Amino acid sequence: MATSAPLGSQDTGIVHVVGARPNFVKAAPVVSALRGRGAHQSVVHTGQHYDDRMSAVFFRDLNLPTPDVDLGVGSGTHAAQTASLMVGLEREFLARRPGMVVVYGDVNSTVAAALVAAKLQIPVAHVEAGLRSFDDTMPEEINRRVTDQLSDLCFATSPEAIGHLAAEGVGPERVHLVGNPMIDTLLGNLDRFDSEALRARLDLPERYVATTLHRPANVDDADNAIRLTERLHEIADLIDVVMPVHPRGRDAFARAGLGDHPRVRLLEPLGYLDFVALTRGAAAVVTDSGGVQEETTVLGVPCLTLRPNTERPVTITHGTNQLVTETDLVQTVTKVLHGHTPERLGDGVPPLWDGRAGERIASVLTQWSR
Ligand code: UD1
Ligand code: UDP
Repeated sequence: MATSAPLGSQDTGIVHVVGARPNFVKAAPVVSALRGRGAHQSVVHTGQHYDDRMSAVFFRDLNLPTPDVDLGVGSGTHAAQTASLMVGLEREFLARRPGMVVVYGDVNSTVAAALVAAKLQIPVAHVEAGLRSFDDTMPEEINRRVTDQLSDLCFATSPEAIGHLAAEGVGPERVHLVGNPMIDTLLGNLDRFDSEALRARLDLPERYVATTLHRPANVDDADNAIRLTERLHEIADLIDVVMPVHPRGRDAFARAGLGDHPRVRLLEPLGYLDFVALTRGAAAVVTDSGGVQEETTVLGVPCLTLRPNTERPVTITHGTNQLVTETDLVQTVTKVLHGHTPERLGDGVPPLWDGRAGERIASVLTQWSR
């Protein structure tokens, strides 16, 4: 944590660090709200995600400014990727001398930026702080804990995050419950998600299950991919399955023959507007994505999360989300298709998921940097 601005530096404003698909969706409303306040800001893209469909399409869809720089870090093992991220970001921060670095979510770009900034005594703000799965087999859990420890400002999307941060010694003066910027983006684009137009354009069936999977636990192991392919084929015996395939699982699912079923439709990763249109028009979604659990909660689309845990429990208590295993997946899809979905326990969507999170974050950031 920084206690003061870096010695001898010139504060050149706020630097947002983004690198992977979900970062772009979360940063868009924060960048926009700060722009509205005339803040001096720039966007550093690390290049962790680089395919047009994993990166540039989001800048087009969300009207995000073209990044001021793309570090082009690319893929690698955790150590190799994190090391390259740190080297590139250190060079960039030394050149830009930001007054504040804002990081998003829980990807390797997030923790790398927080580490570099903290060591340069640059204050760090973490958007989506305090989420915990308590599952250290997920690399994201480690990224979350480390980033929160290093952050001067922890922006929480849901109330339970405050307790998690307190339990790890993060003082309440650092924590702000602001709501969910990913939901700002969703609500701000509601009239642009045209499920019918997408169906016509991609020649999709009227009724389908949409699926997206990319967690290492689901897609890295060949045997696992084969078992999941068998389950998805069983679902396809009941209803068409449409899957934009994350590059991480592409080879494993291809080898497992996922596309061989006549009612499985495999697609390239979709841009944001198309993907949410696909989600909105789906009878149910099968996923292991963090963001998709949140989006389905607000859209009211049944979400079956193929994971043993979630760092986003409000999507279960207040939303449409349920955790499923490979063993009970097909049975649960069948129930959902027959209209059996769990009651929402909460009173509507989670608190402050109201489209104003970006404004709240911008307000704290501008007050803090005065
Ligand atoms: C990363 C995040 C994960 C997040 C996900 C969002 C980490 C540790 N993981 O996982 O938390 O949920 O992004 O999608 O940061 N690849 C391409 N093209 C690309 C990007 C990646 O082909 O544009 C392929 C490469 O083979 C690469 C693999 O995907 O090795 C994994 O990419 P990587 O960024 O390391 O992790 P993700 O699985 O995408
Ligand atoms: N998404 C997308 N195209 C896809 C799959 C997902 O635009 O083919 C969007 C999705 O709507 C959400 C974000 O990407 O806004 C979630 O990213 P991802 O699932 O890759 O990461 P996670 O949220 O699991 O970290």
